[in-house]
Amino acid sequence: MDVAKRIEELREQVRYHSYRYYVLDDPVISDDAYDALYRELQELEAAHPELITPDSPTQRVGGEVREEFVAVEHPRPMLSLTNAFNPEELRAWRDRFLRLLPVGYPEPAYVVEPKIDGLTVVLHYTNGVFSLGATRGDGVRGEDITPNLKTIKALPLRIPVSGGLAGADDGRAPARLVVRGEAYMPIDAFEAFNREQEALGKRTYANPRNTAAGSLRVLDPRITASRPLSLYCYQVVELEGGPALSSQWEALEYLRRLGFPVSDLNRRFTDFEAVVEYCIAWEPERHRLNFETDGLVIKIDDFATQERLGAVGNAPRWAVAYKYPAPEAVTRLKRIVVNVGRTGSLTPAAELEPVRIGGVTVSSATLHNADYIAERDIREGDMVIVKRAGEVIPQVLGPVLELRPPGTTPWQMPDRCPVCGEPVEHPEGEVAYYCVNAACPAQLVRSVEHFVSRGAMDIEGFGIRQAELFVELGLLHDVADIYYLRPEQLLPLEGFGEKKVANLMAAIEASKDRHPARLLTALGIRGVGETVAETLIDAFGSLEALTDASREELQQIPGIGPKLAESIADWFSRETNRRVLDKLKAAGVRTQVGPGKAVGPQPLAGLTFVITGTLPTMSREQATELIQAHGGKVTGSVSSKTNYLVVGENPGSKLEKAQKLGVRVIDEATLRQMVGE
Ligand code: IVH
Repeated sequence: MDVAKRIEELREQVRYHSYRYYVLDDPVISDDAYDALYRELQELEAAHPELITPDSPTQRVGGEVREEFVAVEHPRPMLSLTNAFNPEELRAWRDRFLRLLPVGYPEPAYVVEPKIDGLTVVLHYTNGVFSLGATRGDGVRGEDITPNLKTIKALPLRIPVSGGLAGADDGRAPARLVVRGEAYMPIDAFEAFNREQEALGKRTYANPRNTAAGSLRVLDPRITASRPLSLYCYQVVELEGGPALSSQWEALEYLRRLGFPVSDLNRRFTDFEAVVEYCIAWEPERHRLNFETDGLVIKIDDFATQERLGAVGNAPRWAVAYKYPAPEAVTRLKRIVVNVGRTGSLTPAAELEPVRIGGVTVSSATLHNADYIAERDIREGDMVIVKRAGEVIPQVLGPVLELRPPGTTPWQMPDRCPVCGEPVEHPEGEVAYYCVNAACPAQLVRSVEHFVSRGAMDIEGFGIRQAELFVELGLLHDVADIYYLRPEQLLPLEGFGEKKVANLMAAIEASKDRHPARLLTALGIRGVGETVAETLIDAFGSLEALTDASREELQQIPGIGPKLAESIADWFSRETNRRVLDKLKAAGVRTQVGPGKAVGPQPLAGLTFVITGTLPTMSREQATELIQAHGGKVTGSVSSKTNYLVVGENPGSKLEKAQKLGVRVIDEATLRQMVGE
């Protein structure tokens, strides 16, 4: 059997099937069958190296690592496009060129193509073989990146792709053809690639465009080969020995027949208003595509009219780019500021030179966390890529290293809280940094908001607005101060009528009797949500017992790991936090599990007690618990609203006051009788 003939046969088949797969996205044989053909070709070529040709499909990755890029001059300088940002500007473009055409000149037809956001490439074919590929460069001269481009599977190494098989012009190749196109990275491939990079601990990339550009401008084609790049071609720059092409639409059809990847989204219109409509309708559609576009290109179809109109400056009059608001922009990162959240977590944010993105001005963006900044080496003073996607907060994707000014330094998280100045902590194995000072004012508003929220102490009529107001007025210095708010402090405030204040006071009062697990949740200890709080209270019975629990004891509890145990023990060991607990207790907030309110009979419902002196058999806490368990309320001081004063040994001034106000005075035994003990 003739080896040369078999090799040629195999090449034809491999070319055709990879064309079906990579260009048409419509394979006709299985991957295994394809691999078998490819392997047979590889083996035959290995046995007969003298038969290897540069356009063989096995030669996509072959080039050696180069020392530098070689400049190549383009056959024709590359022009740029004028932009239209809305239908009016699009119509104005038509009005402009119509004025330059003779009266009575027929309305031309239009071709509309997606404007793919990738890297412009210029591809040369000599007698059907891909012979040179270059970047756009400055439009006049680009760089020779032939070996890199050969690795793009959608790029034909030989045209017509597969004599006759793809239905191309009787299998005849033009003597010379220069084509322009856009190399790009599909969005799904980009995302998969970035995930892979991340898994390997390698740098991730900001967007498909930068990745495509970076992948093609490397000296080692093996790197390009490992990147999932693709291609769309849209312009015939030069053609010798081919059919006479008289319009853009014909050119696109010709490219398609030769086996070039040509977008299915290209359209031809004879009515200009249909073009406008298409542009408008396309805006939401483009997000569904698997490549990034910033708009559409509208071209006058026939070359005769194109030539007649020529160019103004370096932009042709016969084409226009209809641009959609870009979701990304590059701007200067002025400063990295650090905000403090409820749990004390420090979150860095970018203060930006204001920039318009997608129709709005953006002056700040999230930087997520210190790791995010470090991985991308984002520095103050950098030019950065900012993305605004839908409703989410704008994000800084990364720096443009080429534009980095001299004298910048890597950024570091401050070691002190930017608000209170207390030292910052960075727990091992965690991404976040924390300010652990519970009295930090930045945290206070959010701590209060959390404290009063539904799942916590559930104080009706108390939300973020009240929290902000009361903290700002200096009425709250910690969450316990909520229980020391007095009506006369609130009544003078705008919008705080008598009824509202009374309701709020009642709601605060009612919250004192919440289950201690909710109080524990409300304290906002890192890692302690509703479930953990319940587990802890089930095990320890009270906040007091928990206060004294060691790390080791905490770790005995199922579900409490070493990290959590440390976080809890650490919280309770802090002086400021202990003071908050004492204040809560002193205000009569329930800290122990007792028979819940609804459990037993409630003989003390509606009655208010004050306790003074040392009781014979009970601690003050126990007496409080007993009263609360039977529906009564315990407050700290005697007033006309007090129903009973429970007196023990060595009572203080409270007894005198009670007698003066006519409040009933009882002892421990009477209290026990009242609850039926
Ligand atoms: S035509 C003279 N068609 O957009 C007009 N350009 O500013 C030549 N681009 O970087 C361009 N898709 O590579 C044309 N379907 C398309 C395009 C397209 C993307 C790029 C082009 C250049 C820029 C033009």
